[in-house]
Amino acid sequence: PIEDRVDNLLNKMTLEEKVAQMAQFVGLEHMKKAEQNLSAEELANNDAQGFYENLHSSEVAQMVREGKIGSFLHVTTIEEANHLQELAQESRLQIPLLIGIDAIHGNGLNRGATVYPSPISLASTWDTTLVKTIGRQTAKEMRAMGAQWTFSPNIEVARDPRWGRVGETFGEDPKLVSDFGVKLIQGLQGTDSDFTDNVIANAKHAIGGGESVNGLNAAPADISDHSLREVFLPPFKAAIEAGVYTAMASHNEINGVPAHANKWLLENLFREEYGFNGFVVSDWMDIERLKDLHRVAPTYKDAFRQTIEAGMDMHMHGPGFTPKVVELVEEGVISEERINKSARRILEAKFRLGLFEDPFVDEDQFENAIFTDQHQETALEAAHESIVLLKNDGLLPLGKNKYDNILVTGPNANNQSILGDWVLEQPEDNITTVFEGIRKVVPEANVEFLEYGHIKSKLSENKFEEARQKAAKADLTVAVVGENSLRYQYRWKTSGENRDASTVKLHGDQLRYIKELKKSGKPVVVVLVNGRPLGVEWISENVPALIEAWEPGAKGGQALAEILFGEVNPSGKLPITFPRNVGQIMQVYNHKPSQYFHHYVLDETGPLFHFGYGLSYTTFEYSDLSIADATLEKGDTLEVSVDITNTGNRKGQEIAQLYIQDKYASVTQPVKELKGYQRLTLEKGEAKTVTFTISYDDLGLFDRNLNYVVEPGEFSLMVGGSSRDEDLIQKTFNTK
Ligand code: IFM
Repeated sequence: PIEDRVDNLLNKMTLEEKVAQMAQFVGLEHMKKAEQNLSAEELANNDAQGFYENLHSSEVAQMVREGKIGSFLHVTTIEEANHLQELAQESRLQIPLLIGIDAIHGNGLNRGATVYPSPISLASTWDTTLVKTIGRQTAKEMRAMGAQWTFSPNIEVARDPRWGRVGETFGEDPKLVSDFGVKLIQGLQGTDSDFTDNVIANAKHAIGGGESVNGLNAAPADISDHSLREVFLPPFKAAIEAGVYTAMASHNEINGVPAHANKWLLENLFREEYGFNGFVVSDWMDIERLKDLHRVAPTYKDAFRQTIEAGMDMHMHGPGFTPKVVELVEEGVISEERINKSARRILEAKFRLGLFEDPFVDEDQFENAIFTDQHQETALEAAHESIVLLKNDGLLPLGKNKYDNILVTGPNANNQSILGDWVLEQPEDNITTVFEGIRKVVPEANVEFLEYGHIKSKLSENKFEEARQKAAKADLTVAVVGENSLRYQYRWKTSGENRDASTVKLHGDQLRYIKELKKSGKPVVVVLVNGRPLGVEWISENVPALIEAWEPGAKGGQALAEILFGEVNPSGKLPITFPRNVGQIMQVYNHKPSQYFHHYVLDETGPLFHFGYGLSYTTFEYSDLSIADATLEKGDTLEVSVDITNTGNRKGQEIAQLYIQDKYASVTQPVKELKGYQRLTLEKGEAKTVTFTISYDDLGLFDRNLNYVVEPGEFSLMVGGSSRDEDLIQKTFNTK
């Protein structure tokens, strides 16, 4: 058994070799790039990048030969992965390296991999089967490149659109986030303990990083025990129950204690209460920040002590960790048994991944394993299902023969910003931009592209004039605006990691540009390509059609064009609320009853677009909501059925949603909570009966002593096509 193999190995290891398993470094090529591109001064000051002034890639390579490193991250090519494993084979015990990478929506940090739609897009599909398939395919592409560990899924509940990382999450609802997290983990890791053909996943970031002060990444989070249990922790509990092998601590402090030194979180809650059996990795240099940022540790050595005592198993990244931890053990501050625990968890992963059998990957097989036809089809299907139609005055779908001259413009119309964060520039042939997609779908039309520049570009009056004139000459304009999350375009990046915003408005001159296009008098379709909700109120009121494409991945342009011209009927629904402006944040569908007791002086109080909302080219009607057993006792389940009819003129897919409201409770409860959802296809005129099952245990709350209980009383049950009141039909039932 693997446990015995781990014990045998541990018995042969020196203390330093065991601590080395806990040390992770950034890839050599990544370091070399920094060595080449940055001046010595820039390197020294480049704390955000985390490179060490006097550390060079050649020294890190030597450390691998000496068995002083257990893991690497940001290794992006098969050649480097194999090279590092060769170096590790030169070490005394020949322990293979664990290679981790941020494969968040496909292994996009590898050039040539399949880039799927970003996680917020995937959540818009409400299709958990699809996300599991994507996990499986991502694992295959990662293994082909020599990586065995992804820092995914990001299962933070994202409720603040100012936070730049919303696009990496599955949105604002604890159930949707939990379901997507679990299915992605199952796809990535498989469902048993043998990871030979899979990769290990990572539940991150614990906890509350998306709810930081002012939406700024790494800023403090003050979250009540109730909100933690009700909103932020359920996805982590679900991920642990699904067997996620690793977890990552978040940058932020939570209620005064930095996550990286938080024993309550990492040990008491994750290990003891939730049963976590894998290992915890720090985020990039965040252990050092216990001293440098949070100031809870006066020295790095004390920071290492605190984090290990709190339950940390692996340090990302840099050279200081191992020598100091060895000292701490030699001084008797940390026990060797504690180090054995972490080393055991990491070594067990390496055995289960089959790395001791063969750590190398076949360079000849690589091309055949990535960006396969099958993976491209999945990426296209996901893009189709994720795109959300927000407004349609009847302009869409566009007639294929109706528009001879089409203008396509805007900062995201013809480039790789459709890919989202955590990708490197991909081969052009792999990507279909929006402009290219439209050209393919209407080959007979004259489709012209007008360059805009970048999201933040300042446009001249001449440019506005040119846009107006071109739009006037065309029969129709498609304007693709939004955000840029591409990490290789740091200067232009407006969302993604460390790109938080104090606004939810479009950046730069984009709104003015759309206004100028509209002055042409010709119809303008606005497509948003972005990672987080935008307060596009003027646009939604003044253009005939508005689409949220999110960051739809490699096939995004094709998917979008097929939707615009009606080859595919849109079916995505928002997994997060769209506020009108920044002052409305925190605007979530599952708010407490008193939130809108009063209203704003000037602006409307309600959201711009509701959670769960999304239009189709057909219409659906809900009727005959019935509840089989109107009173539930412990152990009971409630069968709910509803008839859904396609009342429009074409086939379509609908996402039926079920919400509950606990009418009176000892602790205030949300006005609505999602408890079920189903994606279904209906032919024109077809009706189907959809059934949902909810169990008594789904109806609980955390009482005033934080115990999970189901209280007796009345509940509302609501079913419909969005969380908006007018889209729901309702009944009541009781618990005993
Ligand atoms: O996995 C990421 C994390 O989400 C943010 N900081 C860097 C890590 C490694 O790239």
